[in-house]
Amino acid sequence: SKSDERPEAVVGNGGELHQLPRNGEVMTTAQGVPISDDQNSLKAGDRGPTLLSDQVLREKIFHFDHERIPERVVHARGYGAHGTFETLESLSDITVADLFQKKGTKTPAFVRFSTVAGRAGSFDLARDVRGFAVKLYTQQGNWDIVGNNIPVFFIQDAMKFPDLVHSVKEEPDRGFPQAQSAHDTFWDFVSFMPESTHMTLWQMSDRAIPRSFRFMEGFGVHTFRFVDADGKSTFVKFHWKPKQGAQSVVWNEAVKINGADPDFHRRDLWDAITAGDFPQWDLAVQLFDDEVADSLPFDVLDPTKIIPEEDVPLRVIGRLTLDRVVDNEFAEIEQVAFCTQNIVPGVDFTNDPLLQGRNFSYLDTQLSRLGSTNFTKLPINAPKCPVAHFQRDGHMQTEVPQTGPVAYEPNGYPDDVTGPRAEPRPQEASFRSFEAQVEGETRRIRPESFADHYSQARVYWISQTPVEQQHIVDAYTFELSKVKNPQIRSRVVANLRNVDEDLASQIADGLGLPLPEASEPFAPVRTDLPASPALSILADP
Ligand code: HEM
Repeated sequence: SKSDERPEAVVGNGGELHQLPRNGEVMTTAQGVPISDDQNSLKAGDRGPTLLSDQVLREKIFHFDHERIPERVVHARGYGAHGTFETLESLSDITVADLFQKKGTKTPAFVRFSTVAGRAGSFDLARDVRGFAVKLYTQQGNWDIVGNNIPVFFIQDAMKFPDLVHSVKEEPDRGFPQAQSAHDTFWDFVSFMPESTHMTLWQMSDRAIPRSFRFMEGFGVHTFRFVDADGKSTFVKFHWKPKQGAQSVVWNEAVKINGADPDFHRRDLWDAITAGDFPQWDLAVQLFDDEVADSLPFDVLDPTKIIPEEDVPLRVIGRLTLDRVVDNEFAEIEQVAFCTQNIVPGVDFTNDPLLQGRNFSYLDTQLSRLGSTNFTKLPINAPKCPVAHFQRDGHMQTEVPQTGPVAYEPNGYPDDVTGPRAEPRPQEASFRSFEAQVEGETRRIRPESFADHYSQARVYWISQTPVEQQHIVDAYTFELSKVKNPQIRSRVVANLRNVDEDLASQIADGLGLPLPEASEPFAPVRTDLPASPALSILADP
C-alpha cells in the first residue's frame, strides 16, 4: 500500500540529494547537528524561566512559524495527483508539438483540481466552478493547460477579473461568506455584466456540484493555436472527457456531504488511486481554420462562447491516466505553479483578451505566493528535459551552477564555458511565436463581435432535460433568495428574460417577485441605473 512505500530520498533539480527524515536515525537540527532531547526546552533551574540561549528550541519554532505560505488568490482549495498522458493519434500534420508527433508517446503529467472562491480550508462540495489544471512535462518543456470544468467564462476581458473575484470572495467588511456565490456582491456584479449570463447558467446547473473530481469534464476555454512546420496555424479548443462519465450530486446531497465530510473530493481521488482504480480522461480537440472561424455567428476570441460540436466535432487525440498520489501535499499540490503562458513549440496563443491577461497574471502572482523567481526549480515545477539559460541568482537559488565566468551572450569564450545559444532553428526545434497579422488603432472599446450575450445561454438552457432545467431554476431561486437587496434580484431576472421567458418567470415566482421588464438585449446599458465603467466600455458611440 501507499503508506508502506516511503521514498528514501528525493532528487532536486540541481542533482543534489536531499535526505528525508529516516526511521530510527538520530534526529538533528536543520544544520545537521544531532540532538538528544526533543521534548523539553532549556530552562534555568527545575521550573524555568526558559532560556533564550536554547538554539534548538528557537530553530524549531522559527521554522514552524513560517510553515504557511499565502494561499492562491483564487482556486485556493485544491487537490492533485500524478499521471501519464499518452498520445493516441499523431498530429504531425497540424502541430510540431513534440508530444503529438508519434502515437504512443507517453508524457508525465500532474493535475490539480480546485474550487475557485473558497479559502484553502473550505469545503469540497461548494456550488462553484472547478479548476482542472494539467501540467505536461514534455521533452520540449512544460506545457500547462490551465482549464475549468465549465467551457465558458464569466467575463470577456481580463480588466474585469479582479472585480469578478472581489465580488465572489468574502465581503471585505465582514470576511464572509466564503466558498459560495449566494450573496449580494456576486449577483450585484453579474447583474451588470450580461456577458456573465451564459456561464452563470452553467454555474447554476448540476455541473457546479460534481460528484467527484473523477467525474468532471475539463476545458481549456480559450481558443489556442497549433502551429505546423511551415508556421501555419490551426485554431484549437481543448476538452478533457472523463472515461468514468460526467456525474454530479444534487444540492441536498452536496449540503449533507459538506457537513459530513468536507474533504469528500480529495478523499475520493486518493482512495481511487491508492486502490488501483485509476481515473482517465480523453483529450479531445476541436480543430478549425480561419474560414470556419469567420463563418461562426460569434467571435472565437470571446471566452464566453463555445464552438458547437455540430459545427466542429471533437477529435480524441490522447488519454490522461492519474495513477500516483502525491508524496507530500505541500511540496507538490501547494507548490505547483501552473501558468497559461507555459506553452511549447507547436502551441501558441490567440488574441483572446482574457487569455492575454491571464498570461501576465499567473507568473506575477506566483512570485508573491512562492516567494522567489526560483520556484521553477522546485521538483514539482521543474521541467523533465534539459534546461539551459543565463538567468541567475535570486532568492533561494537551490542550484550551484557550474558555468564558469560567463552569464551572458553573445560571448567569445571557448566551447566548454560559452554556455547555451538561442539560434535560428526550424519551427519544430525551438519556440517561434506565430507570425500573426496585426493592424488597427489602439483602442479600449469592445468589438461588436463580442456583443451577443444571450444566444448561447438560450441554447444551453434549451439543451437541458426537464429535470436539469428544474435544478437550474431551483439553484437560481435558492441563491437569489439569499440576496438581501431586491433590486439585485430584479436585475438578474430582467437579464434572464433575454434567455428564456419561462426560466425568468419561474425564478420570479419562486422569489415572490413581480416579473421585471427584460433588460435591453445586446445593449447592457440600463437607463435607470448610473453608468458604471463596466457598462460604458460597451457603449461605443
Ligand atoms: C488560478 C488569475 C481566468 C483557471 C489562478 C490564479 C490567478 C489566476 C492569479 C492563482 C495562481 C497561483 O497562485 O498559482 C486569473 C486571471 C484570469 C483567470 C487574471 C482572467 C483574466 C481563468 C480562467 C480559467 C482559470 C478563464 C479557466 C479556463 C484557473 C485554474 C487555477 C487558476 C484552474 C488554479 C491552478 C492551480 O490549480 O494551481 N488564476 N485567472 N482562470 N485559474 Fe485563473
